[in-house]
Amino acid sequence: MTSLARSAEFARLLDLAERTAATSLQARFEADPLRGERLCLEVNGLLFDFSKQLVDSEILEALAALARSSGLEASRDQLFAGEIVNTSEQRPALHVQQRAEGAPGLDLVRSFVRALRRGDVLGATGRPLRRLVNLGIGGSDLGPRMARAALEHLDDGVIEVRFASSLDPAGFQRAVDGLDPAETLFVVATKSFSTLETGVLAHRAVEWLKSSLGEGVSIADHLVTITGKPELAARSGIAAERTFLIDEGIGGRYSLSSAMGLSVMAAVGVPAFDALLQGFGDMDRHFAEAALEENLPVLHGLLAFWNRTVLELPAVAVIPYADGLRLLPEHLAQLLMESNGKSVTRSGEHVSTPTSPVLFGAPGTDAQHSFFQLLHQGTMAVPVDFIAVASGPQGPHDVALANLLAQAQALAFGQSAAELEATGTPHDLAVAKAMPGNRPSSILAIAQLTPYLLGGLVALYEHSVFVQATLLDINPFDQFGVERGKELAASLAPQLRGEGPAPEGQDSSTAGRVAWLRSHRE
Ligand code: F6P
Repeated sequence: MTSLARSAEFARLLDLAERTAATSLQARFEADPLRGERLCLEVNGLLFDFSKQLVDSEILEALAALARSSGLEASRDQLFAGEIVNTSEQRPALHVQQRAEGAPGLDLVRSFVRALRRGDVLGATGRPLRRLVNLGIGGSDLGPRMARAALEHLDDGVIEVRFASSLDPAGFQRAVDGLDPAETLFVVATKSFSTLETGVLAHRAVEWLKSSLGEGVSIADHLVTITGKPELAARSGIAAERTFLIDEGIGGRYSLSSAMGLSVMAAVGVPAFDALLQGFGDMDRHFAEAALEENLPVLHGLLAFWNRTVLELPAVAVIPYADGLRLLPEHLAQLLMESNGKSVTRSGEHVSTPTSPVLFGAPGTDAQHSFFQLLHQGTMAVPVDFIAVASGPQGPHDVALANLLAQAQALAFGQSAAELEATGTPHDLAVAKAMPGNRPSSILAIAQLTPYLLGGLVALYEHSVFVQATLLDINPFDQFGVERGKELAASLAPQLRGEGPAPEGQDSSTAGRVAWLRSHRE
């Protein structure tokens, strides 16, 4: 049993969960007509309404008590001071510190992007590079891709930005479809400079450039890299002045605000990117300074912990009602699950409580017509974060926002069979139509999808993940779980090409499927 599971504070939360389970959200709102105002907080333009979570003042106090006894304030201070918080890899997590102090290397990215947007960065044939393809995966793709989509309305078209992450050649092909190689810049985005997918993509990019521009020209003019391993970049022929540095201590999933944001900066310009950083920085300061009870990321993280680790709800859905935020769930899936999908504590003990939930999501109006049925009437409750944007680039979208509010109401208050029967619905149909209600959700609302508010929103989730990890006593900054599959793939690729024998003792499923795939190759 870990110290969390043994703690009096956790025992109190389990007890409260049992005692308060019978109190419905309906009853809570009836007993406290101002609940929707009381359990609501606005910070830096971000409103967080958590009144439809299954909590009351006593539970919130007990959660804050657990946060204090888990040393959350001290851990947060260590993070901000750049101390070693990634204990397994013995290094700090520098994203907040670099946002406060200015990431070294970001000024060079700014200068490069300014030159690129002025048309001063020329390709091998002397034409300005006007198209940019970001080659990267995981945090070197999802964050920038999400932010680029969210800020699409600010994209002035000076630089056309695309992304490629797939190993499937079709993915690269789609990314360069219609592009003129003479004006295309590839950004090899890889902190480790050793990620297989990104290496393959960079190789394809070089082949694509060579096949069209010819062998003799300087392909290097069409390549830049963002990496923590400049020596590896140099060895593969990328010029030092085309190598933008990211510190080893910036985790991939926390790297949007670093040099890794180059592609976003190229699309929306330097001032808009700096406004994004301002949003990150202001939320960082709020997280660092506000009392736990009035601290937005802390409250968000405590409620996530309550739902997952105390109530044992296995999943969480993030549902943005704004087209621009359509990729937010994918970014947050990596952020949360790669950070907190762990089963040992920082000191190596096996955890005895649930850690990360499964995070999934999709834009609201689409989600309503796919998996919302399960959220309303399935056998498990899935807490939802509804993300509202009051005005989109085309103005307010009342139908979408009405749907958001309606879904949150339906989840919370349901509709009983008795109510339906009272309005004339036959008994059997009323039973099928009845909605249990009492399903928790929160609303996160912003006025507009500005760079500043987007930065605040992403920082909020980053810190919420940190809060959850601290309560669970796990290290959110390593990701050893993804390494084993990479090692195995390295030996299977030659086997699939027929260049190597099956390793001794290979399981019959893998051996059989290698044979099947080989026999179906063209
Ligand atoms: O495989 C997971 C991972 O290590 C992520 O944490 C990271 O965001 C991604 O790969 C890409 O890594 P890199 O930037 O080193 O290519």
